[in-house]
Amino acid sequence: MSFQNPVFIPGPTNIPESLRKACDMPTIDHRSPLFGQILHPAREGVRKVLKSESAEIFIFPSTGTGGWETALTNTLSAGDKILAARNGMFSHRWIDMCQRHNLDVQVVETPWGEGLPADRYEEILTADTNHEIKAVLATHNETATGVKSDIAAVRRALDAAGHPALLFVDGVSSIASMDFRMDEWGVDVAVTGSQKGFMLTAGLAIVGFSAKAMAATETAKLPRTFFDVHDMAKGYAANAYPYTPAVGLLNGLNEACTMLLNEGLENVFARHTRIAEGVRAAVGAWGLELCAANPSVYSDTVSAIKTPEGFNATDIVTHAAEKYGVAFGVGLGEVAGKVFRIGHLGSLTDVMALSGIATAEMCMVDLGLDIKLGSGVAAAQDYYRGNTATAQKDAA
Ligand SMILES: Cc1ncc(COP(=O)(O)O)c(C=O)c1O
Repeated sequence: MSFQNPVFIPGPTNIPESLRKACDMPTIDHRSPLFGQILHPAREGVRKVLKSESAEIFIFPSTGTGGWETALTNTLSAGDKILAARNGMFSHRWIDMCQRHNLDVQVVETPWGEGLPADRYEEILTADTNHEIKAVLATHNETATGVKSDIAAVRRALDAAGHPALLFVDGVSSIASMDFRMDEWGVDVAVTGSQKGFMLTAGLAIVGFSAKAMAATETAKLPRTFFDVHDMAKGYAANAYPYTPAVGLLNGLNEACTMLLNEGLENVFARHTRIAEGVRAAVGAWGLELCAANPSVYSDTVSAIKTPEGFNATDIVTHAAEKYGVAFGVGLGEVAGKVFRIGHLGSLTDVMALSGIATAEMCMVDLGLDIKLGSGVAAAQDYYRGNTATAQKDAA
């Protein structure tokens, strides 16, 4: 691996220089109005990135996994029924977390490569006439398979069934990179971390709670201490945390939100789509296929690329690290050895993406796959030449 090359793992992402600098700051009193000048704008920035008018934003020293736990433990009680689909490693891990908290999960097994089955959710919710299901889990972007799901469709399923369950959305690898609409989709808890769309190092769990989720905290009985949102809210009111906050990372988060909002969220999403389209053009030119079943579920932050039967896809990742000093993502769980992943989110340009595509291509040729050197790069170049970034157009 090299410190010089960009990374192509699906998070942590490349970090812009200005964000690295924002995280590197002198110690300040973390129980003071000065800290409030970092904390409150960071929370406000996150709220805007989530596209919410009124969500309560909580930021914990943790990671996305801590965000999952925050959602569950603050709103639910042991034995509560949960509805979830398992279509990849991350949805699997969230389900596992529910089960370890003694929640009763109804799991809809879904082929890896497909999106969440909103129709099936609707059937199950409609049949649940006593409203025993307290929460529905939805992984917006399955990072293991490069599959995005339609959260608006999950909301429609809840509404069509007239069901009051809470909707929890894992947006760890979508928020701040792909379109996410907390209010419009009626998301009750949105979960993410600092190391993906926000382009920082790992270290923060970032969650948004709707008013309905906040109301659920009043009756929820699962034990919680570190992730208690009431303790956190009390701290915020006094420009503080219930414990010691990660001040530098929060300063970085504040700066990241400013960067994203200055670029314009729609431009950020369009940039991710464009870069992803270039990667997909390369995959097509290589004669390979994505794990994602069809274009409607293609992720704009990560592509999981299937390699031919009998070839160990992980060899590409190992070879890229050893020979070229470049990081790609390995396949996880059910698709381990069958796919390798190109992460294309966060701080990334067309030109950086081309270097990743070129490296993947060199590795596949080195390892004997029947791929023409330059074919994927040329396909992506063609795509990028014809689809200039909005921001680049504006600058020109
Ligand atoms: C979709 C998704 N959910 C949850 C997680 C877990 O987040 P973390 O590793 O920050 O705990 C990840 C991590 O990659 C993820 O991609």
